Amino acid sequence: MVHTIVIFGASGDLTSRKLIPALYSLHQKGYLPADTQVVGVSRSVFSSETWRETLKKSTSQFASSFKEEVWADFEQRVHYVPGDIGKSEDFVRLRQELHRLEAGAESTRVYYLSTAPTLYPDAIRHLGEAHSVAIEGINEAPLLGNEHRRVVIEKPFGTDLGTAQDLNAQLHGVFSENQVYRIDHYLGKETVQNMLVLRFANSIFEPIWNRNYIDHVQITVAEEVVVGRRGGYYDKAGVLRDMFQNHLLQLLMITAMEAPVRFSADLVRDEKVKVLRAVRQFEDEDLLKNTFRAQYEGYLHEEGVPQDSDTPTFSALKLHVDNWRWNGVPFYLRSGKAMSCRTTQIVIQFREPPHLLFSGDRHSTWDANQLVIQIQPAEGIQLQFHTKVPDAGMKLRMTNLDFSFSREFSGSMPDAYQRLLLDALTGDASLFARSDEVELAWGIIDPITEFWKRTQKPHIFGYPVGEWGPQESNDWIEQDGRRWFDVCPILH
Ligand code: BG6
Repeated sequence: MVHTIVIFGASGDLTSRKLIPALYSLHQKGYLPADTQVVGVSRSVFSSETWRETLKKSTSQFASSFKEEVWADFEQRVHYVPGDIGKSEDFVRLRQELHRLEAGAESTRVYYLSTAPTLYPDAIRHLGEAHSVAIEGINEAPLLGNEHRRVVIEKPFGTDLGTAQDLNAQLHGVFSENQVYRIDHYLGKETVQNMLVLRFANSIFEPIWNRNYIDHVQITVAEEVVVGRRGGYYDKAGVLRDMFQNHLLQLLMITAMEAPVRFSADLVRDEKVKVLRAVRQFEDEDLLKNTFRAQYEGYLHEEGVPQDSDTPTFSALKLHVDNWRWNGVPFYLRSGKAMSCRTTQIVIQFREPPHLLFSGDRHSTWDANQLVIQIQPAEGIQLQFHTKVPDAGMKLRMTNLDFSFSREFSGSMPDAYQRLLLDALTGDASLFARSDEVELAWGIIDPITEFWKRTQKPHIFGYPVGEWGPQESNDWIEQDGRRWFDVCPILH
């Protein structure tokens, strides 16, 4: 069985910055199936040689380690076919070309849509049509239900529930669900996958991973970057669609899910979906209390952003997962651009001991135990606990057990796309979003964006670039007697 990955949007940024460097690195490590070929498709008319030259430059810049001789070997696998996603005849030609490259052998093909989302419907329809045309000399199984034909879709997957449902319907007209791989690159991060290992390969955390021991959970994805050149896209999306619907809800699911009975795509995703089903639906008055929004100062001057834009670049949500494990444990989700530092972290804040013996210098839950899971750029876990300060009576100090991937393991962490591309090629969809998961996620986000639009509430606060959001976001969480974990990671 030969493997072919067909990248639509071959001349785009994602292809040169992420996809090709990831495929190259997999090749370098010997992880790519031996007979894998990479075929780029886009409208620009140039040859495979020209495409290889361009990719060589970008890969040497973006791959973590680049070697001339490895590239020379890898580039043999790389081909380019000009084609227009808007033209169905180009897809028939592409199919003939793929057949030629695969020398008529049985193949696994991954069609990767790395294009503008507006092109997804055409690409899907034309793939379907091209496969239903009989081509002389090509004997290929029908597309629908053929597990050796897969499609990978980048985010954004729709812009709300309705558009996500439409896209799912278009996909399901051509592919069955198990052929569809919806990317959320957060799931490709090693530290996110390690959450599953932390929770389900150790027996010490599970007994305390619930409402009896946990006071609340904070999930923060802070970014230092501003919107920059992406203003046109970003202003329509805002932080909820750009970060929460996908990445933050994925982190919530991984933190809150039950253990699947086996690590297989559907069983893992069944458990994740149950978390989203348990997220409490809010009435208007809850939406006012439990959502917070803000915009960084200077956002209105970004290119492509209207002068009167009320798009939030920072938001915080307080969600409840209404099930036996999590009843009464709020999940605070927070993300923003132009913040103090780049950090993604999950903080499990434990309860105080039921009876405080050494309460002299302890007054709030802030001093109770915390498990801090650092996703990026620091990659590690800290468990914070009290220790007796020697020779100082019963004075206590918070200390921590500190695990860091870089200290414990040699080599650099692979980029998320390496794992995801390999899984798509080998047919493991565990780390990709399923249709119901994506739709349920929109079902959580849509009422919030609709409420904000309808009522113009809550107020949009401003914040200076380089802060942890506005001061009011501290007041917002302090009303609940809690505090944000605002710590920039120390990188070793
Ligand atoms: C993308 C968003 O999905 O994720 C960007 O569109 C954001 O706005 C990016 O910057 C963050 O990804 P990472 O891996 O850098 O945390």
